[in-house]
Amino acid sequence: MKVLSGNPYIKKDIKKIIVDLIPFDDILKLSKTPIMIFLENKIRDNIISFKNIFGALFENFEGFYSFKANFLPEVCKIICSEEIGAEIIGLPELKLALKLGFPENKILIGGPYLPDELIEESVQNKVREIIVYNLNDLDKIDSIAKQKNVVQDICLRINSQKYASKLGIVLDEKSVLQLNKKNKKLQNINIISISSHYATQMNNMELFNKNLSVVGECLKKLTKIGINIKNINLGGGFPEATVMPQKQLTKIAIGLKTALENLNIDYEKIYFEPGRYFVGDSGLFITEIINVVKDRWIFLNIGNHICPKFARCSLRFYNATQIADPHKYKTSIAGIIPSDQDVLAKDYFFTEKLNEGDKVIVTNVGAYTLTFSNRFPYSLPNIFLVKDNDIKQIFTPSIDHDFSIY
Ligand SMILES: Cc1ncc(COP(=O)(O)O)c(C=O)c1O
Repeated sequence: MKVLSGNPYIKKDIKKIIVDLIPFDDILKLSKTPIMIFLENKIRDNIISFKNIFGALFENFEGFYSFKANFLPEVCKIICSEEIGAEIIGLPELKLALKLGFPENKILIGGPYLPDELIEESVQNKVREIIVYNLNDLDKIDSIAKQKNVVQDICLRINSQKYASKLGIVLDEKSVLQLNKKNKKLQNINIISISSHYATQMNNMELFNKNLSVVGECLKKLTKIGINIKNINLGGGFPEATVMPQKQLTKIAIGLKTALENLNIDYEKIYFEPGRYFVGDSGLFITEIINVVKDRWIFLNIGNHICPKFARCSLRFYNATQIADPHKYKTSIAGIIPSDQDVLAKDYFFTEKLNEGDKVIVTNVGAYTLTFSNRFPYSLPNIFLVKDNDIKQIFTPSIDHDFSIY
């Protein structure tokens, strides 16, 4: 059988498609479309490749899954069982990670908004590090840590200097001075790491190098004021695993190691926080054509409310009903939000015949689709987790109502 979308867990021959070991037609019997599927084996494979590649090159490498990519509990549980830590931005995620059994010392908390309650819970639970995007947060953390009579380890999120990026601390003269003062004064924080996440979907070394050169510059400035950084956190930003095959990921890992050596960057530990790489290609939508209009435009029964552009997924579309037919005819694909802006793809190579009711598989939708989804008034899909021959429903809109976390 041939592999679809570079994903070994979605295969086709002229007659049928199988999803892991389950015939596609059996899945269709379980629910009306749209259906969302997650492939447990793909998540595990992605984690194992990432760990093998980075673990072979970096002695002290640690991985932290970026929960915001997809915080469905069943997905996070799989990641936890592969002994990956958690990178978390808010209290609901922290509560979930703790409930799912992520060890406290494998949890990194951080983001542009650190409410007191989040800091309190983080300090109380002895999370590994709090990542600070704004120097004023250091005072808040220090004061809460003081009340609890502990010293909290801190990571400074530096601004990656990517064009127009507003996230993280720009270490200019003024902020270095401010940091120096705070570091001397605040006794209940200990700055031990820096983090720089450059962008998402980074598929070439140039972007990773840009990130590292900013890290190198910042380390020099920090050393000058007596802050000795132990750990480097390079964030996430890797494309879906099927889009960045192991060979390419290995190249990036080797490139990073070489660049760190060339820049004379010493560190005890190196952290990565992949989101998309672990889960992006583990998700697929099964949807159907609900309308065919002029100029080869088709409408699917999903749209930007559940498959948002913001998610930056490498979307691939397959006409499952005509899977044996060549996909070489330019077709534009619209979603169901009543706005001309709801376009999922333009001039995408698809089957010649376009029929209402044709089932369409959309791949690479495992990361950021659910988290960036919105409350446009359409029903949410049934969501299933597939592993080998097993299929289990992990989200039922009529019972669960919503996949938000509180
Ligand atoms: C600080 C940080 N780490 C990790 C990630 C995960 O990125 P990706 O899913 O592209 O790997 C993000 C995403 O925005 C981020 O902001």
